Amino acid sequence: MKKILILILSLIFSAPSWANKNIDLAIKQYNPQTTLVASAARGKEKWFETRNVEGKERNCTKCHGEDLTKSGKHVKTGKTIDPLAASVNAERFTDLKKIEKWFKRNCKWTFERECTAQEKIDFLEYLRQF
Ligand code: HEC
Repeated sequence: MKKILILILSLIFSAPSWANKNIDLAIKQYNPQTTLVASAARGKEKWFETRNVEGKERNCTKCHGEDLTKSGKHVKTGKTIDPLAASVNAERFTDLKKIEKWFKRNCKWTFERECTAQEKIDFLEYLRQF
């Protein structure tokens, strides 16, 4: 019984470390020559950068919420979005294709353009803290 409990606990607490590995892989993909340096501070600033489109505010928190360990709510559809924090959601940052797909969509909606490689690695560096 104790062994099973330890196994379960170690599985839960090991999730962020493999999420970190996936974030490393994603950063490498966006920055293959390692010419860029990722910055969590810049990522944070960008995460909260707010634009006004048709009289309505847009930023990353509009769907993902202010607390990344809690569920968010899609600003257009009202659908619940599972927490973005890998510490509470083991499915986060496990699939490079998914990460890229959502960067593309979310940057287009938020900033009306795609994000640069620098912006993406800054976001990932910021998001890995949660
Ligand atoms: C209009 C709503 C909306 C906004 C605004 C938004 N997102 Fe998202 N985001 C989503 C949805 C929906 C998903 C996919 C559903 C899920 O994974 O739970 C997602 C998923 C993601 C993922 C994939 C994570 C993973 O599981 O690997 C990343 C990274 C992400 N968003 C980053 C951002 C960033 C950066 C911004 C700001 C530029 C942003 N999002 C703004 C709705 C939004």
